[in-house]
Amino acid sequence: MATMESLIGLVNRIQRACTALGDYGGGDTAFSSLWDALPSVAVVGGQSSGKSSVLESIVGRDFLPRGSGIVTRRPLVLQLHKTEGRQEEYAEFGHMPRRRFTDFSLVRKEIQDETDRITGKSKQISPIPIHLSIYSPNVVNLTLIDLPGLTKVAVEGQPESIVEDIEKMVRTYVEKPNSIILAISPANQDIATSDAMKLAREVDPSGERTFGVLTKLDLMDKGTDALDVLEGRAYRLQHPWVGIVNRSQADINKNTDMIYARRREQEYFATSPDYGHLASKMGSEYLAKLLSQHLESVIKAKIPGIISLINKGIDEMEAELDHLGRPIAIDAGAQLYTILELCRAFDKIFKEHLDGGRPGGDR
Ligand code: GDP
Ligand code: NA
Ligand code: MG
Repeated sequence: MATMESLIGLVNRIQRACTALGDYGGGDTAFSSLWDALPSVAVVGGQSSGKSSVLESIVGRDFLPRGSGIVTRRPLVLQLHKTEGRQEEYAEFGHMPRRRFTDFSLVRKEIQDETDRITGKSKQISPIPIHLSIYSPNVVNLTLIDLPGLTKVAVEGQPESIVEDIEKMVRTYVEKPNSIILAISPANQDIATSDAMKLAREVDPSGERTFGVLTKLDLMDKGTDALDVLEGRAYRLQHPWVGIVNRSQADINKNTDMIYARRREQEYFATSPDYGHLASKMGSEYLAKLLSQHLESVIKAKIPGIISLINKGIDEMEAELDHLGRPIAIDAGAQLYTILELCRAFDKIFKEHLDGGRPGGDR
């Protein structure tokens, strides 16, 4: 089992294969069901709640577009792959697979450009996701989906309907029973008014797939604390709340290093008179580990279902290839064929995981 790729890595590859087929979201093939069955973490929250900051802190790099107004206008499927040793960090986009980005400011620019390629410069939103993989020794294996921030008012140049459109788009991600919700709320606002928690409560009333994240703890009024939330009394979830201290706007303007900011965050909790007793379960590094472990255990529990969907997909593809006539040189046929091969490989590896999970397991 030692040489085996991580389960999350495998699921990442299936997700990319499904996207290559154009089956994400809609459609009714076995591969669209497969996409729906694969768990991933959707990041939701109001505008300026700290979503981008949390994502960057989890990655340990500065790479997301920022600015005022609605910056995230397409879902960003962010796949993190942990590499060993001191290998250089790099990023790759699904839409330009052969280009390795090592300059993360160019990653930011490409996210912006690729957003505009689909939406025009119209500031409209689009449900077509951008796929970005980051390979780094500083990350944990994890798939996160960054979504447009929930908002109450349209800004200049945006249609009135954008408020509803964003909520609808975010909803399609979080209402899937397999979606893990990373709900971001700022500590300097009343949790009862949090957009993230409102939506999470609606789609996951029992709180079994919601991870509550409280940002901006450093910005709370003097003499107040967030223990009611962090200790689960104000808003009960089945997973523990995680408190976060991201870089402030001043830090960002000064280009404060992300790894340094993570260390400073840890110090903040370790030395805090209010939160010291929770320090080992606070901060973005802890959050990343918590999510990765959870994602892995959810995937393990779903392996049998994933195998049957893969097999259903293989059957459908074989039928499709027979229909096209095999071997066929046209792109579609070649692509189907590649994915078919990939699925056979996954089927085999997942079955090994299944056996590994149940010693002497019956098949
Ligand atoms: P998003 O709109 O939800 O993606 O929010 P951003 O991550 O862009 O954050 C909005 C603003 O809040 C930025 O100026 C951040 O620097 C600031 N911010 C986010 N989290 C924190 C935090 O924990 N502490 C402080 N002081 N500022 C934060
Ligand atoms: Na999914
Ligand atoms: Mg943002």
